[in-house]
Amino acid sequence: MKNQYEPIQTSIVKIEQLSPINKLFTLKIKNKQTRNTFKFRHGQFFILSFPGFGEAPFGFCSSPTIRETFQVSIDQRGSLTSKLFKSKVGDNIGIRGPYGNGFDQKKIKNRNLVLVAGGCGLSPLRTIIQDANLHPEKFQNIQVFYGCRNPELLVFKDDYNQWNKNIEMNLTVDAPDKNWKGDIGVVTNLLTPEKISSDSVAILVGPPIMYKFVIQKLIELGLNEKDIYVSLERRMHCGIGVCQHCVLVGGKYVCTDGPLFSYAEIKDTPEGI
Ligand code: FES
Repeated sequence: MKNQYEPIQTSIVKIEQLSPINKLFTLKIKNKQTRNTFKFRHGQFFILSFPGFGEAPFGFCSSPTIRETFQVSIDQRGSLTSKLFKSKVGDNIGIRGPYGNGFDQKKIKNRNLVLVAGGCGLSPLRTIIQDANLHPEKFQNIQVFYGCRNPELLVFKDDYNQWNKNIEMNLTVDAPDKNWKGDIGVVTNLLTPEKISSDSVAILVGPPIMYKFVIQKLIELGLNEKDIYVSLERRMHCGIGVCQHCVLVGGKYVCTDGPLFSYAEIKDTPEGI
């Protein structure tokens, strides 16, 4: 029987510093046959491991249509990510996955898509953004609303001009520097009736505190609760519905029923939002 916890061996083929605390890792699955059959959807995640330093879940951040390699952008936070930040091109890393429900693209067919990100929450949403840039015919209209503490912490800064050709980027920071030309304040301030059409579908990825205020604003703007999706990636360990760490009150598993939930689905779940 196949061991579900056995990692797939990947090697690091590129490392890029995206912010003082964030690096983008490009990984390639070493076994060619495994690489050719490895597929993921928008919104799915994988578990990354380093022997002796444990495991942690991370969202994919490159387009699923790029099959030779995939990318993950990671903030340096604990011992696993610190170990990862010391690694070099050519080093090996174990992964398990892909896991989670992912996002059903049929739900946004002919619909305006609003992506709201806080901090490094832009990273998992980049699967959609990059896909839309590579395959604009697959998407209708995409608006990105991205808020960060300061300009230094924005991730994928070098890509915004390119992204702007196919999607609408709206940026805001809490603490601007002298060169900042964008908005100032919380991301909720960017969501206005002039900008957001009420029949949009929204996906939110960021700190839990952001969800409450953004959801409230989107509902005020007329979005249906069924069309507002949040990513709950916290509390995950095994990723496969075994350890029970991610179970929400009411019995939903974040790892297998989620991590993407519509607000309608979890609004009455204690600790859901
Ligand atoms: S992470 Fe173990 S059951 Fe969900």
